[in-house]
Amino acid sequence: SSDEEGGEEYLFKIVIIGDSAVGKSNLLTRYARNEFNLHSKATIGVEFQTQSMEIDGKEVKAQIWDTAGQERFRAVTSAYYRGSVGALIVYDISRRTTFDSVGRWLDELKKVYSSVKGLVFWLVVVRSEVAMGACQPSPVVNLKRELTMDGYFAHSDTTVARMLVGNKCDLENIRDVSVEEGKSLAEAEGLFFMETSALDSTNVKKAFEIVIREIY
Ligand code: GTP
Ligand code: MG
Repeated sequence: SSDEEGGEEYLFKIVIIGDSAVGKSNLLTRYARNEFNLHSKATIGVEFQTQSMEIDGKEVKAQIWDTAGQERFRAVTSAYYRGSVGALIVYDISRRTTFDSVGRWLDELKKVYSSVKGLVFWLVVVRSEVAMGACQPSPVVNLKRELTMDGYFAHSDTTVARMLVGNKCDLENIRDVSVEEGKSLAEAEGLFFMETSALDSTNVKKAFEIVIREIY
């Protein structure tokens, strides 16, 4: 249960973001259910799947949030980044515009994290004062546990595992973004990098598992 410090249960929230039609939903269905849909519909808002894996003999659960890439959902979906400890930022190797958008998606992520950190800091300060009045020895620790218990701000002070994913690598004949470009952007931004294909399964499992392992 979650009220024990360092409990034995691990639940991580991971988000998948990127432009519309880059294959986010299919990456998730390929990973979670080994399914692929040639005619999938655009995601509306967000959907999530919980996927378990075993690391060092412990069960680790990843709650993976698949978000809508369409511009009109942007305000709604970014609200769901909150509390996530991992992110896959996806583009389509056959459409350069989706690669050009990666910077904007990273900015969205950063915005959410800086606001969450600000809020946690504010809560710590306010609650410390209250707690000190009540003569509690370590208010900050207490607060942290409280925040972790409702699961909302858990891990907000740890580094987020982010991976840049160049999807649709089966479309080599109409490639529009080279592997080198993907790699160097990832290096510059401090991201993991992988090219995947939800269609033929290349690297899909690997991409998710690298992110999950990094968090763990
Ligand atoms: P939004 O929900 O609108 O943000 O789009 P999305 O990123 O979830 O894209 P989705 O998974 O719905 O895929 C869009 C289209 O790309 C569909 O027609 C998929 O069949 C196709 N697609 C997804 N992944 C691949 C892939 O790896 N290779 C190829 N060739 N097509 C893919
Ligand atoms: Mg989708």
